[in-house]
Amino acid sequence: MSPIQRVTLGQGGDEHEAADAAMAGMVIARFEGRVAVVTGAGSGIGRGVAQRLAAEGALVAALDVSTDAVVETVAGIVASGGTAVAYTCDVTSETSVADTMASIVTDLGPPRVVCNVAGIGGFFHTADMPFDRWQKILAVNLTGPFLVCRAALPHLLEHGGSIVNVASNTALMGQAYSAAYCASKGGLLMFTKALAAEYLGKGVRANVVAPGGTDTPLLGTFGLPEGADPKQLTKIMTPMGFSTPAEIAASIAFLASDESSYTTGAVLSVDGGLTV
Ligand SMILES: NC(=O)c1ccc[n+]([C@@H]2O[C@H](COP(=O)([O-])OP(=O)(O)OC[C@H]3O[C@@H](n4cnc5c(N)ncnc54)[C@H](O)[C@@H]3O)[C@@H](O)[C@H]2O)c1
Repeated sequence: MSPIQRVTLGQGGDEHEAADAAMAGMVIARFEGRVAVVTGAGSGIGRGVAQRLAAEGALVAALDVSTDAVVETVAGIVASGGTAVAYTCDVTSETSVADTMASIVTDLGPPRVVCNVAGIGGFFHTADMPFDRWQKILAVNLTGPFLVCRAALPHLLEHGGSIVNVASNTALMGQAYSAAYCASKGGLLMFTKALAAEYLGKGVRANVVAPGGTDTPLLGTFGLPEGADPKQLTKIMTPMGFSTPAEIAASIAFLASDESSYTTGAVLSVDGGLTV
């Protein structure tokens, strides 16, 4: 197989199809019968993770704040012969997360895998950033994973488990117009390391995948604010263009599986070399 060199900058096309075909050809069955919770499963990377884990035998609890979107994800998985159940869940709500986790245990059994993928973003001049946007980004990207992990941990500790939190290259490097997003992802990285340290040797691993630009609807929410200097953002472009959700899902699946059994507290950058 020739190496994949995508330079399509989010336009899709043959090279993205080749990348997805390569991912599909590598599918094995590392999650047979395991319950896997995936947040943000209605779109983009979360949908890719739900599909990948289901294809490898997981019983997927697919969570999203958008009911229609997550129902569509689950319908696709079931049509492909996989097992998944859709849950409408707002990860920023303590009660929504607690109620959803209780339903998952009743419907599917105790979770062994937790993938916190739900996230939001946006570009803002920090000096003008509305307080409610700051709070919302922190709530979805950082408080959400805390609430989901807190609800899942008793089960993970009892049965063994793996947590994969999806951060971003912005957890590792500053990005203009992205103070809340960088803060939330940097916080998520250290939250994950703290979990890894706290539960070391107790059967629960926690790791981070840090994607770079990925071809999903999220990108459309990063419009430049008025007066912004596009040159400030040149460092977040790589000659490799954008990844596909399936490429990010493959790395998340590795860290979620027993194949990474000696890996905890790690950050796996999947960013086309942005942070080299
Ligand atoms: N796309 C990229 O370029 C990129 C790069 C680095 C990191 N990431 C991260 O990857 C993750 C997935 O992003 P994506 O690109 O697939 O985005 P996406 O917009 O395609 O999907 C995000 C999903 O999260 C859901 N969501 C939002 N708020 C929620 C809430 N309160 N509760 C439950 N679900 C909620 C949305 O409904 C949506 O289905 C995010 O954490 C994002 O920050 C994305």
